[in-house]
Amino acid sequence: MTALIHGQDLYRSFGQTPALQGATLSVAAGEIVAVMGPSGSGKSTLLHCLAGIFAPDRGEVWFDGRRLDKMSDTTRTRLRRTDFGFVFQFGQLVPELTVADNVAIPRLLGRVSRKRAYAQAMSWLDRLGLGDLSGRRTGELSGGQAQRVAVARALVSGPRVLFADEPTGSLDSATGDQVMELLVAAARQEQAAVVLVTHDSRVARSADRIVSVHDGRVVEPENVRATAARFTEARFTEARFTEARAEGAR
Ligand SMILES: Nc1ncnc2c1ncn2[C@@H]1O[C@H](COP(=O)(O)OP(=O)(O)O)[C@@H](O)[C@H]1O
Ligand SMILES: [Mg+2]
Repeated sequence: MTALIHGQDLYRSFGQTPALQGATLSVAAGEIVAVMGPSGSGKSTLLHCLAGIFAPDRGEVWFDGRRLDKMSDTTRTRLRRTDFGFVFQFGQLVPELTVADNVAIPRLLGRVSRKRAYAQAMSWLDRLGLGDLSGRRTGELSGGQAQRVAVARALVSGPRVLFADEPTGSLDSATGDQVMELLVAAARQEQAAVVLVTHDSRVARSADRIVSVHDGRVVEPENVRATAARFTEARFTEARFTEARAEGAR
């Protein structure tokens, strides 16, 4: 399997604190990788380096055969906008704007017409069972609703990689499970690769592969599912997706 995104021997320090110390991780197109590991082990730093949010001190980051860490800021920013989607622990939505506005923003920044941007936003909101909330200000939403909006916003541009950093970390476990199920199922339907940082081993089980980060290195790759089984799983999650969406709509 060729890697869509690949970080090789990454090092990154913050002052005297080493956050990454030779981390290597490859994710194939359409593959869902759960990244686990203790707090402070370097998971977020790894995700930020792979996503080109900041550059590693040493090492290489490749995306689709190109050196991400060597690109100009402009090129990297454009690529992040077109090819990457992000969901963080606290949705980072704009609270004063409506749900539809928040989801349309990435499209508007991508210079899509207003009409098309809002149509695409609405279509994603419907898919995630949020259609009825489109006019609400995001500041008024529950945590679970807000994270579902964040998922819609992350996927609206059709990214090839979805980066999620503890996307359900601030939710109770039932709500978190629901959001995670939607996220994983939607990403699979879109055939987006996913780098999913999570503490939750149940969540990690819906991934294709689990890696864990310790002291700034990626260790113990654990195949949780043979590649061949993924197609069966995709159909299974699709059914769960429909179910979860129906639940969300209630
Ligand atoms: N912006 C920062 N400034 C200073 N130290 C940081 C910063 N970001 C991360 N660190 C440190 O780097 C290490 C790894 O952090 P992080 O990647 O956030 O770990 P994780 O996501 O696994 O909890 C920790 O010791 C953390 O304190
Ligand atoms: Mg973190």
